[in-house]
Amino acid sequence: MRLKVVDHAGVEHVLEGLDGWRVMEVIRDWGVGIKAECGGACACGSCHVYVDPAWTDQLVPPSDEEVEQLDLIYESEPNSRLSCQILLRPELDGLAVTLAPGSEP
Ligand code: FES
Repeated sequence: MRLKVVDHAGVEHVLEGLDGWRVMEVIRDWGVGIKAECGGACACGSCHVYVDPAWTDQLVPPSDEEVEQLDLIYESEPNSRLSCQILLRPELDGLAVTLAPGSEP
């Protein structure tokens, strides 16, 4: 399934991901720069992305842990998510996110 990612330079990438992969893993494994310091443990906030508003309602709501991390991020917006906490599934084919400040590698 496809994942659209706008990187820190404003360039859009269309990446292929598999069911069950974390959005952060797809971004990292395709070589698009993302810090993701804790490796997906919901403990760092450096995999922060802005989700295209057309997709926000289709995501599983954030856990309490994710909300706590997002609360610590100054640039957090209503469409902010931690990309390590979004698991791809077929319904999310075409999901679009933008890498947020603070997630630079
Ligand atoms: Fe650390 Fe997502 S990689 S919170």
